[in-house]
Amino acid sequence: GAGTTGPAPALAFASVQMTVEAPLAVPPGYTARVLYAWGDATGQAAVAPWGSEVLASPAEQRLQAGMHHDGMAFFPLDGRQERHTRHGLLALNHEYTDERLLHVDVASLAGGARTAEQVARSQAAHGVSVIEVQREGTGTAAPWSVVRPSRRARRLTANTPMAVAGPAAGHALLRTAADPEGRRILGTFANCAANATPWGTYLTCEENIQGYFEPPAEPDASQRRWGLQAGGRGNWARWHLHDERFDLRRHPNEFHRFGWVVEIDPHDPTMTPVKRTALGRAVHEGAATGVSKDGRAVVFMGEDSRFESIYRFVSRDRIRPGGFAANRDLLDHGTLSVARFDAQGRGRWLPLTHGQGGLTPENGFADQGEVVIRTREASDRLGGTKMDRPEWTAISPVTGEVFVSLTNNSQRGKPGLPGADAANPRAPNPTGHLLRWRHGGDLAAETFQWDIVALGGGETAGDAFSGPDGLTVDPFGRLWVATDGEPMTAAAPGERLWLPRNQLLACDPQAPGGVTMRRFLVAPPGCEVTGPVITPDGRTLFLNIQHPDPGWPAPGGRPRSATVVVTKDDGGVIGG
Ligand code: FEO
Ligand code: CA
Ligand code: CA
Ligand code: CA
Repeated sequence: GAGTTGPAPALAFASVQMTVEAPLAVPPGYTARVLYAWGDATGQAAVAPWGSEVLASPAEQRLQAGMHHDGMAFFPLDGRQERHTRHGLLALNHEYTDERLLHVDVASLAGGARTAEQVARSQAAHGVSVIEVQREGTGTAAPWSVVRPSRRARRLTANTPMAVAGPAAGHALLRTAADPEGRRILGTFANCAANATPWGTYLTCEENIQGYFEPPAEPDASQRRWGLQAGGRGNWARWHLHDERFDLRRHPNEFHRFGWVVEIDPHDPTMTPVKRTALGRAVHEGAATGVSKDGRAVVFMGEDSRFESIYRFVSRDRIRPGGFAANRDLLDHGTLSVARFDAQGRGRWLPLTHGQGGLTPENGFADQGEVVIRTREASDRLGGTKMDRPEWTAISPVTGEVFVSLTNNSQRGKPGLPGADAANPRAPNPTGHLLRWRHGGDLAAETFQWDIVALGGGETAGDAFSGPDGLTVDPFGRLWVATDGEPMTAAAPGERLWLPRNQLLACDPQAPGGVTMRRFLVAPPGCEVTGPVITPDGRTLFLNIQHPDPGWPAPGGRPRSATVVVTKDDGGVIGG
C-alpha cells in the first residue's frame, strides 16, 4: 500500500500527443526499453537465439518467450528492508499465436492445414512465462534486464500437466478417455489478464477457449451458449488435426476442462499449477484479488464477451501468512457470485450456490460442480447483469474501490438484444467505459454502490480513449488504463473518433474536480497495450505490446510482441 511510499503525488507528466510518427512514445524524461520479446530465452537453459528467418523447433519454443504477451504480474524478491524495487519475478501470459508469423511458411497453412510439428510449435508458443528480472547496478534509474541463466525461470504451455481442485474436480463432465478421474489436465491457453494474489501466487485466466476446439457439426444448446459454431467455424487453431483431445466429436468433455482460473506459485518452478474450479468457468479475462475485512480472499473477475457478467469469489477461510504453502486450498472453498447492477448506483452479489435461486437438478444443475462448469447458464437463471464486455478488474490498495474496463459493445440495442441499462448506458457502445464500485469498507459485503468513472469517445475530460482493457492501480491509488481499440470508431451517432494508435492513460479517480484522463504512452502501430503493472516502489512500469505491425520492435522481418519496461530518467515515481 501507500504506507511505505509516502503521500500520493499528483500526476505531473506532460500528456503525450497522439501521433503516428514515433514507434512508441512516452513523456519527456522517461525511457521505454524492450525487455522480453517473443523468442527471447527464458533463462531456464541455453537455446538457439531467435532470428527473423529462424524457424524455432517446438522444443526451442518451450525455452523461449511465447507469442502475444498479455496479462502480467510482478513478484518482488527484494529483502524486506529494501526501500526500492530492484529484483523480482515477472509472470506473463502468451495469449494466442499468429500462425503465419509463427510458422513462416504461410502457404503450408492454406485451407486450415497443419503439420504435427506446427501444432506442437503453436501449443509451445501459448501459456505463461515466469522470468527473473533485476536492475543492472545501483540507483533507481538503473536499467532492468532478464537474469540468464535463472533457476527460477519457467515456461508453461498448452501441454504442461495441471491439477484440478474445487467443486468440479473429478466431476463426470470433466472425465475423458485420457483422464478417467477428471483430475489432471494438460495445459493452459488463451490466457488473457492475470493478477498476483496477496499470498504471492499468480492467477492466470483462460479466455477465448472456443477458438481451439473442433465442435460437432451441430453444436448443442450449451455448446452454442459457450461460443462453439456449427461446422467448426471459429476453430482457428486447428490443433485437433494432430491432437485428438481438441476434437469434441471424440472427446466432448475436453471443452469443460478449460475456461478456468489457474493458480501458479511463481516462486517454485516445480509446482504443479492448479485449475481453481470454485472460481467458476467463463471466458475469463482476469482475477483481481483483495482481502475482506475479516481477512478472507476476495477475487473479482470479468467475462469478456458481449452481454456477459462480472463475478466475485469470497473464500470460506482466512488468508494465512506463509505464502502458497500456507494457502494451498484457500481458493477451493467459498462462494461464487454474479453481479447485478441496479439503478441509482446500487448493486448486489447473487450467489451461484447449488440448491439456491433455482440452481437445482430439475433445472439442469446436478451439483455445485455443474454450477461452476456451466457458470453462464447459472448466471442467466439468477439475472446477473449483461455487461459491455467486462475486461480487466483492479482493486485500489488505497480506497478499496474496484474498477472494471467495459471495452465496447457494438451490439447493444440491436434488435433482439438487450438495450441500454444504468450500468451500460450507451446503445450501441463503440468506445467503452470504466466503472467502479465500493463495498462500504468490506470487499465481502453483499451489496455495493457503483458509478461510472469515465466514458470512451472523448466524453470524459482530458485525452480521448476507446476500447479500455488492461487496468492497474498504482501504490498511490492512481488508475492506469491500457487500450485495445480500433483506429477509428464511431464516437457518437454521426461522429468519428480517430485514435490511430492504442495508448496507456492515467487518471486520479479521487480528483476533487472529477476524473481527467492523461495520455502517458502511445503504442506502435497495430498493437494493443496490455499487462500494465507498477512495482511496489512506484518507480518501474512494466507493460506488454501485443500483436504489433511489422517494423516493431526492429525494422524489417517478423514483428514480435514484447514486454516493455518504462522508468523515469531521474529515478522518480512513474507519473510524477
Ligand atoms: Fe484477451 Fe478480452 O482480451
Ligand atoms: Ca489481446
Ligand atoms: Ca484483454
Ligand atoms: Ca480487448
